[in-house]
Amino acid sequence: MAPDPEVEREKRVAAEAAAGLVEDGMAVGLGTGSTVAYLLGPLAARGLTIRCVATSPATERAAGELGLHVEPFDRLDQLDMAIDGADQVTPDGWLVKGGGGAHLREKIVAAAAQRLVVIVDSGKAVEALSPPVPLELSSFGLRAILRALGEARLRDAPASPDGGLLADYLGPVGDPAALAARLAATPGVVEHGLFGPELVSDVLVGRGEQVQALEPHAR
Ligand code: A5P
Repeated sequence: MAPDPEVEREKRVAAEAAAGLVEDGMAVGLGTGSTVAYLLGPLAARGLTIRCVATSPATERAAGELGLHVEPFDRLDQLDMAIDGADQVTPDGWLVKGGGGAHLREKIVAAAAQRLVVIVDSGKAVEALSPPVPLELSSFGLRAILRALGEARLRDAPASPDGGLLADYLGPVGDPAALAARLAATPGVVEHGLFGPELVSDVLVGRGEQVQALEPHAR
């Protein structure tokens, strides 16, 4: 399906606003996805001296081609800022992430960042989260893990860069904190795509040509 120009514009304005938040000398986590793709050019164009880590090989490649200094995430033990997209965001700062299967690295990067800035088009802003919730699963014991999860389906997709299998939880979300706890407590779930408000500092929502800033939770 051809991209909707209005949606693309909203992604672009949110991403450009986030690029403007980065300061010289920062260590910055770069997310993954079509919204983050609009971040990289404007960020590179600022000519700042920054160190970046990328949450996927695709972002690492794209950022490197634009001249951003991307390094493996084994030298830095914290980040000043991370900027990433989301599949859904609620007014109280819950996210669903991982539509592109990068949620394991995205969550590690988000947790290591002093500030996570989420950039979305207005279609991602929802009142309540709904399935699917992305999962990364161990291949060992896969059938048993899927059985324990109940309503979950394996994706027809390559394994993640970290070797996990991508799947989606399809049951109701209800209370996201309760579901997040249940998924995290299921052996074999390497990571799930529910990101709690404690990880989220700012949400920048593109609406037409404008950017609406939500501050769901002070970290
Ligand atoms: C990658 O796995 C995801 O978490 C993305 O951040 C999320 O799916 C948003 O992607 P888009 O910006 O492409 O909608």
